[in-house]
Amino acid sequence: MILKDKKYQRKISYIRISVTDKCNLRCFYCMPEAVPFIHHNDIITYEEIMELIKIFQKFEVKKIRFTGGEPFVRKGFINFIGLVSSKFPEIDFRITTNATLLDKDKIEKLKSAGIKNLNISLDGLNKKTFEDITKRDLFHKVIENINLSIQAGLNIKINVVALKTINSDQIKDFLEFAKKNPIELRFIEFMPVGENTKWAEKFLIGEDEILNTLKKYGNLREIKNIDDYSTAKLYEIENGIGKIGLISSMTHHFCKKCNRLRITQKGNLRTCLFSDKEYKLLPILRNSKVSNKNIETILKGAVAKKDIGSVLLSKKNDNTFVCKNHMSCIGG
Ligand code: 5AD
Ligand code: SF4
Repeated sequence: MILKDKKYQRKISYIRISVTDKCNLRCFYCMPEAVPFIHHNDIITYEEIMELIKIFQKFEVKKIRFTGGEPFVRKGFINFIGLVSSKFPEIDFRITTNATLLDKDKIEKLKSAGIKNLNISLDGLNKKTFEDITKRDLFHKVIENINLSIQAGLNIKINVVALKTINSDQIKDFLEFAKKNPIELRFIEFMPVGENTKWAEKFLIGEDEILNTLKKYGNLREIKNIDDYSTAKLYEIENGIGKIGLISSMTHHFCKKCNRLRITQKGNLRTCLFSDKEYKLLPILRNSKVSNKNIETILKGAVAKKDIGSVLLSKKNDNTFVCKNHMSCIGG
């Protein structure tokens, strides 16, 4: 049994599950300083997440990414990773983190749980830019944990949200960073997600501009992508050990090959980042009189109607957000 949408026959093989809306950073584009957090009782429990994974496994899902907010802020997350990996050994579990809460012990635990891939968010390559963006003094901690993760042999992707006038002067430094380290460093175009955050057109830098700037400082060669569903265009760097990726959600859309679904920390299903339509799954998971078969039915129906985000984006008028929810609530 495979989940597919009607119009484009896109097969769902990848689920992103947000385990918390909380974060210890305050990236200006993602979270205002004071945010009302979701009440604990309304957050999907680890047991409920495992119930959902059982269902996704039936639908032949191969890859699941845990995101947040910041997943390591949630109590027991590292133990949960151990548990879920041993219960579902066929699934490739991955994590997106800001890396501020990692340490040697946690990295070892991730490794022994069989985690091979970490995506780490890092939008500035010096203390000042990092703090301007995140409002927290944790730059050196992130760099230390990136190094520890590389030394431990994990595959590391670094996510950089490209922000004109904020970190665009560091494109060269990011290129040098990717040259020196065995990582994939991906520039992500800034997306209009999250009401009350500071998204503005003036911060946008498109893929072409980033690429032209990179080419001023190094020779890049495009790598033919073997992964059909990858959202990043990849480049090798001459004399470099890392790679550069460009994720252009705004200027070059990949919606027609989108293979993913999202589960929010409230246990809501979202079929597209750019659509606020959510399907509530917690009331079913929490009602012992209702069978989980109902979740399968909701999944099939929702996926059949899965949106094309680029169409929603093109209808956007500049003063509104296509998606009102914060990225920290959707799971970036
Ligand atoms: N546009 C692009 N990327 C974003 N992220 C968070 N908000 C946005 C946005 N509006 C990124 C985070 C993290 C990843 C999960 O999503 O920086 O790297
Ligand atoms: Fe936290 Fe990531 Fe949002 Fe920054 S972008 S505030 S690290 S959830």
